[in-house]
Formats: sequence, C-alpha cells, structure tokens
Amino acid sequence: MATETRKRKADHIRISLNQNVQARRVTTGFEDIHFVHKALPEINKQKIDLSTTIFNHKFAAPLIVGAITGGTPEATKINATIAEAVEEIGLGMGVGSQRAAIEDKKLEKTFSIARKKAPTAFLIANIGGVQLAHGYGLKEAKKAIEMIEADAIAIHLNPLQEAVQLEGQANFERVLEKIGTIAREVDVPVIAKETGAGIAAEEAKKLEAAGVKGLDVSGVGGTSFAAVEYYRTKRKANIFQRRLGDVFWDWGIPTAISIVEVSQTVNIPIIASGGIRDGVEMAKALALGASLTSLSQPVLQVAIKGVKETKDVLSLLIEELKTSMFLVGADSVQTLQETPIVVVGETAEWLRMRKFNVDGYARRGRS
Ligand SMILES: Cc1cc2nc3c(=O)[nH]c(=O)nc-3n(C[C@H](O)[C@H](O)[C@H](O)COP(=O)(O)O)c2cc1C
Repeated sequence: MATETRKRKADHIRISLNQNVQARRVTTGFEDIHFVHKALPEINKQKIDLSTTIFNHKFAAPLIVGAITGGTPEATKINATIAEAVEEIGLGMGVGSQRAAIEDKKLEKTFSIARKKAPTAFLIANIGGVQLAHGYGLKEAKKAIEMIEADAIAIHLNPLQEAVQLEGQANFERVLEKIGTIAREVDVPVIAKETGAGIAAEEAKKLEAAGVKGLDVSGVGGTSFAAVEYYRTKRKANIFQRRLGDVFWDWGIPTAISIVEVSQTVNIPIIASGGIRDGVEMAKALALGASLTSLSQPVLQVAIKGVKETKDVLSLLIEELKTSMFLVGADSVQTLQETPIVVVGETAEWLRMRKFNVDGYARRGRS
C-alpha cells in the first residue's frame, strides 16, 4: 500500500512537470475582476507594508507555497528547496499529503526536512479528508502535525480526484463529522483545503460550524487533478478512466468566485489558491476577501531547479503584488482588502444568481 501511494506521488510530480495539466476551457475568473486605477496614489511605493498576521503568525507577505509533495526521494529535495526559500523570505508552505509517511515511518524524513530547513516559517501539515472515511482519525492527524512540527494542518478535500482516479476512494461519508473531531482535539488550527475544484458557500458554512479555523478554496482555473489522472491512466490504456479525466478536466468553481462565495459566508481566514499566477491576481484575491494567497504548480517548476530560482519567483510575485498595491494607493494589506474593485462578466453573473453582493466591492470608500 505504501509503495503504491509513493508511486502515485511520483507520477503526480512527473506529470505536473511534463504535461500541460492546467484548466483548458475554464478560467479562474480573475480576468473579470478589475481594480480602479489611481492616477494619484499619494503613497510611497518603498513604504508599502506587505506583512500580515494570520493564525497568530506574522508573514512577510500574504503568500504561501501550496501543498505539493512528500514520500519520494525527489520530494525530499523539493520540500527542502521550498522550505529554504520560504524561510529566507518569511513566508509559509504546505507539505503534500503525509499518508505515505504515516504508513511507512522510513518516509518521514521526506516531510520533516521541511522543518529542518525552515525552523521559523509557517508550516502546514496535510492529510486527506477521504482518509477519514477509511480509518484515519485524530491519531493520524497528530502524527502528521508532529512529523513537521506544524503550525497548522490542512485536511484536503479532493472528491474530483478520487472520483476520476483509477484507484480512487469515492466514499466521503461522515467526513465532515470527523473533521470536526480533529478540529476540536488538535492544538493547531485546522484548515479545510480543496485541491483545484473550489469550495462553495454551503460547504464553507458547514466547515466553519465544525470548528475549522481556515479555508483554502483552491478553485478551478489552475492545476487540474482530473488532468493529472487523465495522463496517468492514458499510460495504462484504461479507456473508461481516461475519458473521466477528460470530461471532468475543467470541473469546479472558479477561484475568484469561490473566494467570494466563502468570504461572504464565513468569518475565518481564507487562503486563495488555484491558478494564481502573478502578483496582480494575488492582489485581486486579497481584495475579494482572501487573507493569504498560495501557488503550487509554478513553484514546483522552479523548486526542481534550486533555492535561488525558487526565491526569485517568490520575490517577483511579491514585487508584482506591491506594484498593484501602489497603483491603487494601498500601503498595507488591510487597505488593499478595502480597495474598490469592479466585478464584471460571467463572474458577476454567477455571483448575482447565487445572491452574493457584487456591487458593494465597487462602492468601497465612497459614501
Ligand atoms: C504535483 C502536485 C501534487 C499535489 N499534492 C497535493 C497534496 O498532496 N495535498 C493537497 O492538499 N494538495 C495537493 N496539490 C494541490 C495544490 O496544493 C493546489 O491546491 C492545486 O495545485 C492548485 O494550485 P495551483 O493551480 O497553483 O497549482 C498538489 C498539486 C500538485 C501540482
């Protein structure tokens, strides 16, 4: 079993690096979000404060690297590289699902390397929600947290991936209740996290009521796990499974929409992820109500090159965010979160049909 999990993780890395597994026909929706440019920003770009405190932790900028990997030899290097980069910049990172190491102690170091290389950065442990319907519980969650001395634990929700995956476990019965038990019993915040299909208002509400302390929306528009599974099954020539991956490639709630659905419904911090690719999109996510932003696939691509390359990409994103803030006259993350934005097109249409307040964003700061 552990060998199988390990092999699957290696497949995910290889396919994500070598094939185009990004959404094809659906976008994040950020193209429908517009800032109102300020011809007179009245601030000094050099004095913009990007720091933010979430989950009682001070981040140098509202950016983390999303869960990617662990459990394989190459994962050790990837986790070490990302950890070193985020430690030096003052950000955070999530490790990938720790199931492989929970099942095989020998693999623990592929995850614990992250804490070794990042003694002070915000580290997020990771287990699968579906595992809670298959025997996992408090013990495994605690083990995952201890393994990397985590500051928080993400319980990932990946029904799409499980449904299209050859060896997927499509039983999610009573997962919410079990998330609640873990949220009550562990002493770090529990974050419920999607993996590329988004979280709707209804689920956000239930997860908040269950005691979850943060939500990572991970919407559609970026990495598609149906696509990853499509390429895995393609190699095995399983036509039925391959068609599932193809048909569900773009399934989900676009990231920009998911941020609004969730932020207008709950009062816990939101991590925006799923197809965020530059600092302008990071700024839009924050203006829509997110507290942190997160990227996975683009960081994986540079993490295989080295620490400097990874730091360069993260620093560029931060510089782009800062430039966006300058152009709307926002000298702090909080000011950016209160800055006017205009929501148009299909994103606005979806949100109006779902009875969310779309016009309020445009009127911010005006009486
Ligand atoms: C190779 C790879 C492996 C991943 N493994 C995990 C995982 O183990 N646990 C998890 O919660 N998310 C996992 N994800 C999902 C990401 O954390 C993220 O939600 C998703 O990729 C969307 O972000 P992106 O478009 O910036 O890549 C993985 C993503 C990639 C690319």
